[in-house]
Amino acid sequence: DDIMVLKMGEMVEYGSVDQIINAPQEEYTRALVSVRSIDHEEKQPTSEPVLICENITARYKGTKFDVLKNVNVEVHPGQTLAVVGESGSGKSTLARVITGLLPQREGRVHFAGRDLNPVMRTRPREDLRELQMIYQMADTAMNPRQTVGTIIGRPLEFYFGLRGAEKQKRIQELLDEIELGKGFQDRYPAELSGGQKQRVCIARALAAKPKLIICDEVTSALDPLVADGILKLLLDLQKIENVAYLFITHDLATVRAIADSIAVMYQGEVVRYGTKTEVLSPPFDDYTDLLLSSVPEMKLGWLEEVIANRKMESAGN
Ligand SMILES: Nc1ncnc2c1ncn2[C@@H]1O[C@H](COP(=O)(O)OP(=O)(O)OP(=O)(O)O)[C@@H](O)[C@H]1O
Ligand SMILES: [Mg+2]
Repeated sequence: DDIMVLKMGEMVEYGSVDQIINAPQEEYTRALVSVRSIDHEEKQPTSEPVLICENITARYKGTKFDVLKNVNVEVHPGQTLAVVGESGSGKSTLARVITGLLPQREGRVHFAGRDLNPVMRTRPREDLRELQMIYQMADTAMNPRQTVGTIIGRPLEFYFGLRGAEKQKRIQELLDEIELGKGFQDRYPAELSGGQKQRVCIARALAAKPKLIICDEVTSALDPLVADGILKLLLDLQKIENVAYLFITHDLATVRAIADSIAVMYQGEVVRYGTKTEVLSPPFDDYTDLLLSSVPEMKLGWLEEVIANRKMESAGN
């Protein structure tokens, strides 16, 4: 009935739902309410896909059923494929197959003009470099004993053999790109906010100069304002570096903001696949409809509307 807006332990604003959503008084509230207003028009594919997953079937060791069944998706250079679907539908498993952590049983992963070896350990360094990954939990993705400079410096050494002043210069450039200042180089992960940690992980991925970055729920642990900043950063970096993203997310607002194409997964299969406009335009299949209508929207009466529509459906059945 009422909403209280908090910022750094202090109440910024308090009012009825209607007032806070439709007539926020404070700058901070306005920013919170209007997030995910990123304007992104989908791009048309201009060149050969950088990644083609062809008929991928995979299962985990010691189990008797496939968690991916005949999955086919493509990602184009400089573009974003959003992979959406309910929990357990196989999104992260697809990421594991592409990165070689879970070798597929059938099918092939075609990347930058070659077939990738299913087993990560046996992939040449160039394959590891060109295919990077960013995770949901920036915390556990970084060594807490290493400074930001060391973390970003490692791929520079490993992939490009950079040392000394050359390496320092590149670390600075990367810190600038992710909009963190000079002082951050000597900080430890524990001294960073959630959003800053995720920026460091982005810089570490970019340091390798990859062709594709797989992002698995990279904004879901962040508050909406900070997540918005990360999405904008990823979009800007995509323009500059022409890097492609395979973007796994639960959040439809995120999909609207960044995707060029969308794959909808259900029980290990891709049940809907197309450009953003195609997938997000009716008529929807029941599953996509349910996914779309399950994303809370910041508007009055949203829940009532969803419930009413669902009742109508079941009455019609
Ligand atoms: N290590 C594992 N061993 C056996 N089964 C697994 C393993 N990891 C995942 N699974 C199973 O594989 C299926 C797909 O899981 P996956 O993690 O890919 O889902 P997801 O779409 O990423 O879900 P979420 O949105 O919750 O992250 C699930 O049924 C899950 O239980
Ligand atoms: Mg997952």
